[in-house]
Amino acid sequence: MCGIIGYCGPKPAAPILVEGLRRLEYRGYDSAGICVVENGHLELHKKKGKLAALSSVLPPNVVGNYGIGHTRWATHGEVTDINAHPHIDGAGKIAIAHNGIVENHESLREKLTDDGYVFISETDSEVIVHLIHSLYEGDLEAAIKQAVQLLTGTYGIVAVHADEPNRVVGARNGSPLVLGIGDDEMFLASDVTAIVAHTKQVVYIEDHEVVTITPDDYRTTDLTDRPIDKKIEFISWELAEIEKDGYTHFMQKEILEQASSIKRAMQGRLNKETATGHLGGLNLSSKELLEIERVKIIGAGTSFYAAMVAAYLIESIGRIPCSAELASEVRYRNPVVERNTLYFAVSQSGETADTLYAMRELQRKGARVLGICNAVGATIPRESDGGVYIHSGPEIAVASTKAFTSQLTAFYIFTLIMARMRHMSFEEGSNFIRALEKVPDQVESILARSDKLAELAAKYAHFNNVLFLGRGLNYPVALEGALKLKEVSYIHAEGYSAAEIKHGPIALINEQTPSVFIVTNDSLREKVISNMKEVKARRGPVIALCVEGDTEVMAIADDHFAVPSAHELMYPYLMMVPLQMYAYHTALVLGRDVDQPRNLAKSVTVE
Ligand code: G6P
Repeated sequence: MCGIIGYCGPKPAAPILVEGLRRLEYRGYDSAGICVVENGHLELHKKKGKLAALSSVLPPNVVGNYGIGHTRWATHGEVTDINAHPHIDGAGKIAIAHNGIVENHESLREKLTDDGYVFISETDSEVIVHLIHSLYEGDLEAAIKQAVQLLTGTYGIVAVHADEPNRVVGARNGSPLVLGIGDDEMFLASDVTAIVAHTKQVVYIEDHEVVTITPDDYRTTDLTDRPIDKKIEFISWELAEIEKDGYTHFMQKEILEQASSIKRAMQGRLNKETATGHLGGLNLSSKELLEIERVKIIGAGTSFYAAMVAAYLIESIGRIPCSAELASEVRYRNPVVERNTLYFAVSQSGETADTLYAMRELQRKGARVLGICNAVGATIPRESDGGVYIHSGPEIAVASTKAFTSQLTAFYIFTLIMARMRHMSFEEGSNFIRALEKVPDQVESILARSDKLAELAAKYAHFNNVLFLGRGLNYPVALEGALKLKEVSYIHAEGYSAAEIKHGPIALINEQTPSVFIVTNDSLREKVISNMKEVKARRGPVIALCVEGDTEVMAIADDHFAVPSAHELMYPYLMMVPLQMYAYHTALVLGRDVDQPRNLAKSVTVE
């Protein structure tokens, strides 16, 4: 989704802004622009398309040393040069870049038009710059404070004024904004990846706060101009983690990293002596954990599918009623918050608007909501009532992979803790830990056979529709497998419980519709095999994801990929990893933009 950056320091701003935008590319965007103040005038350059298009129109000699930049993911108005940000006022003095949505832009636009302002773009954001201009009396920060109070909706804003040298002002409500403190230089950005090459000292700006940076200082205030003391935090990860590091794509790198990212998510959280787990961030005493009667999990996209696996586990193994629900639906159905119910908001980025707003609504109703997040310092972990970081490291590819398996890990450990406090014996707890600890090596051995997945992808990449079918714990895995394929290859793919195909999807089966069946050796195995035969009987090609040595399934399927035999509960990991790799290779065969698929955004900060 849109990204913003601001710079103020001794160096020419343009290359720093473009470089920052390059680091934000992963969020997904369709146009880009920068505005640098040079000798008291605004040097504005913006272009639809990728950053290369912007770079091609940038004059080499832009030397101004403060400015702002933006990558736009279109919401209001088409993808055009004019709709790209930054937007400037008619007098060419003020420039702003905006993330979020101004919900009352139509009424503001009407009023400003009546007052003589001329709009040149179709965006909701342009009202902000004219509004600031209409309130400007020689102090950009003061004008912004007044302007944002007239906005309904969400914003992360950075702005400059041509007559206020070496100052960049930022404001936030609902769209992330972080300040980076360098040596005699300051940065503003929508996320830390844009600035980590320059500094690891950051300050997270909160809603209804305004920040003004100069090369060697910053000031944070609320909208009534009251100064706010902010904590400086340190980013712990290294620049190398947001580089491709020799890999062709971030998605490939992130899939291949999973043996170590899963291990990291477990580190220090499993105790063999007591055969249970420990998640410090839950902020719950044993007594409080024992009192929990129900667990509800919310999330979006891949995180929602991780939540579905978790719900199945927590209920069947933890023996606590548990359900997963789309965050976007929870928020608007006036949810009932029950006593002794623990909520989890699961989100890789920790910024997804649907999940964040649903979490706030639940909290308003008195719920205790814990976060399961990857991005340290993001809004969901900061606003939740505790939670667990999954420590996957930065996930850059738009399609989520390693975060999914680490989210599972956090939930597997939570399940172990809850089960051990109730019915699970020491013996069973030890088995669970042993099985979980084997997963990284098993994942590694699957990844070592990626060639076979590349072959399968080459064979099936030209089919226009694919079904993914699994049951029990592997039903959400089928859903996530289908999501991965459609995200990166644009092939129409649907996931179903294998049991459901007879209730509709079987009508789609013919020689042109392959089905990927996930078959393990669980209690539903025979039923899934029957479903496979039903598909075969209708000439549907079948690819089986099965367990090594499963000759029965291999004989029915046209093609198969076998994973190591494992504890029954661990198959979601072992089945998901090959599906990720299959999607990746299919996208390669079809020549797709693997890391930044069309129309998608990594962090969706609007509803
Ligand atoms: C976007 C991304 C997905 C992601 C979803 C939820 O749609 O493209 O990959 O699964 O948001 O994101 P979150 O950061 O909350 O896990």
